[in-house]
Amino acid sequence: MTSSDNSVPCVTAKLQPEAAGALFEIIDSDGFTPTSWHDVESGVCRVALFPDEPGGVGRAQAALLAAAALLGVAVAPEITAVAQTDWAESWKRFFHVAKISDRVVVRPSWEHYAAQPGECVITLDPGLSFGTGKHATTQACLCYLDRLAAQDAHRYVLDMGCGSGILAIGAKLLGFEDVRGFDNDPDCIRVSVENAAVNGVAIPFEVDDLSHTHGPADVVVANILAPVLIEFAAQVAGSLAAGAQARLVLSGILDTQYGAVCAAYEGQGLVEIDSLLIGEWRSGLFGCVRPV
Ligand SMILES: C[S@@+](CC[C@H](N)C(=O)[O-])C[C@H]1O[C@@H](n2cnc3c(N)ncnc32)[C@H](O)[C@@H]1O
Repeated sequence: MTSSDNSVPCVTAKLQPEAAGALFEIIDSDGFTPTSWHDVESGVCRVALFPDEPGGVGRAQAALLAAAALLGVAVAPEITAVAQTDWAESWKRFFHVAKISDRVVVRPSWEHYAAQPGECVITLDPGLSFGTGKHATTQACLCYLDRLAAQDAHRYVLDMGCGSGILAIGAKLLGFEDVRGFDNDPDCIRVSVENAAVNGVAIPFEVDDLSHTHGPADVVVANILAPVLIEFAAQVAGSLAAGAQARLVLSGILDTQYGAVCAAYEGQGLVEIDSLLIGEWRSGLFGCVRPV
């Protein structure tokens, strides 16, 4: 949507950087495109919501206030207009080549990167689906996938809640032979298929949800919010193959919620093998039996 002066309306608000990631996870972003940037010098993070439709400004403002209230943070939304040309290019300043794990590097398409021997470079541009590699929860999953692939890549990996497809694509580039993914959002499947093609890998992605078991897969990765992981613990754990080598990676969990998630999965017969804290997000690696 543009006005006659070629500007687009947007709703913006200042936020603490640590709240921005959580806000993006819970905001109901139907009808607008959320984005954020972090001024490292001032420490201030600003979120901006660009409505897709005329009249969407009020909805974006209400969604921002509702998500902030859920998080218990105060925001003061402002309505501004941004030149369309600036908007189209400005977000590129916030996405750069990022080394995520020993071998995984994420690169936006407009930046060149000369891969070092052994590195897997995921080419991924930010879009509407979660999973650019900037979020701690995605990073933790890629770190675990890197470690698991180094141990044994002859395994079937299932990405539950694939978003942009970044984890499945990373798994495939790391050498896992059989990789699949699903999401309950059809837009995520369309984006995942496109992203897989950009990266030259073929991965079956499908629209599906967590309400029933899938697999069984040797490696299951689920980066979804803690309450969802707890609600569907039986289905997620039930999608993991039996055996000492099977591994489940759970992410999307605030450190304060991690104990409850562990309890839910221990209740399904799994044991925690390792956990990784990045910022306020703790991710866990689980197995059917603890390795000796
Ligand atoms: C935090 S994003 C993770 C995206 C990506 N896997 C990553 O690690 O960056 C969670 C994804 O789970 C999906 N999701 C949430 N609830 C789901 C459900 N019940 N069934 C399937 N997918 C779900 C969302 O649509 C979203 O794409």
